Amino acid sequence: MSAAVQVSHLSKRFGDRSAVADVSFTVDRGEVFGFLGPNGAGKTTTVRILGTLIAPSSGTASVAGIPLEPANGPEIRRRIAIMPEAPGLYLRLSVAENLEYFAGLYGLKRPRDRIAAALAAVSLADRAGERCGALSKGLRQRVGLARALLNEPEVLFLDEPTSGLDPVAARDVHDLIDGLRRQGVTIFLTTHRLAEAERLCDRVAIMQTTLRTVGRTDELRDRVFSKALTVTTAAPLPDPERVFAGLPAVDGWRADGTAGYALAVSDLAVAAPAVTRALVAAEADVLSITPAQHSLEDIYLQLIDNNEPAGRS
Ligand SMILES: Nc1ncnc2c1ncn2[C@@H]1O[C@H](COP(=O)(O)OP(=O)(O)O)[C@@H](O)[C@H]1O
Ligand SMILES: [Mg+2]
Repeated sequence: MSAAVQVSHLSKRFGDRSAVADVSFTVDRGEVFGFLGPNGAGKTTTVRILGTLIAPSSGTASVAGIPLEPANGPEIRRRIAIMPEAPGLYLRLSVAENLEYFAGLYGLKRPRDRIAAALAAVSLADRAGERCGALSKGLRQRVGLARALLNEPEVLFLDEPTSGLDPVAARDVHDLIDGLRRQGVTIFLTTHRLAEAERLCDRVAIMQTTLRTVGRTDELRDRVFSKALTVTTAAPLPDPERVFAGLPAVDGWRADGTAGYALAVSDLAVAAPAVTRALVAAEADVLSITPAQHSLEDIYLQLIDNNEPAGRS
């Protein structure tokens, strides 16, 4: 089966400003794909290109298996949905009236059933009669999501779906995304919230005009950072050099606090058992031996700060 989204050397210029430059990646069907980057990174521009709202300056793409060409715009739009940063609802109309309006605009068959299903999917069936203008921002975002679900999209583009939401409303949106994933919808999620990407996404791309990297979060940790083990003991080791020097896959060590040691290792699976045995042989009172965990935020900052060349994937 074809990929949900395939992008090859995509670029977009606005005048002499480059918003997206030579970006290539693939999103698998059923995947939640995070598109991360700071403000102005080109995330929304990429979504608008893939959603057939604007044309790329160069490069090719396919969306829901269909080549991104002007003639294919209507067919692509039938199979996808975009929830833009501002949901674009008529605030004087009720929730149901908004959805009826958009169902008509999209020319949906069986609009009543689709509206009922979309409202149920975002747990808003009991608010259908309320005026959108009277709803909280979080609830409005859920109506926007219901609108995006009306045409049962194969690929759903969510552009910063939780921006400006309080933590409770953001968690509701996260739960909805999890629910959609379980139904097999492919989700392309732009965000500058790293914790959100880490919690929801199968893979993430880190973007800043050019694509800095793509991968699973655990793979990114391995790729970007040297591996490390952290050892803590109840008391300082009398001679740590004797314990750690020369162990297989241990490249070096340094003291980290009074009874902690940070070890640079080339292979965790070889180093961790060897370090454990060496500590036991030295009769150390071990409190913990843990692989050092880097958050996605560390990776992100490193990639954005270092201005790494594009094209790592
Ligand atoms: N219609 C436009 N005309 C001119 N410049 C634009 C337009 N849309 C976006 N840009 C510029 O392109 C860059 C990327 O913007 P955008 O894709 O909105 O970034 P993001 O969504 O990652 O914050 C920014 O520098 C922005 O100012
Ligand atoms: Mg944006």
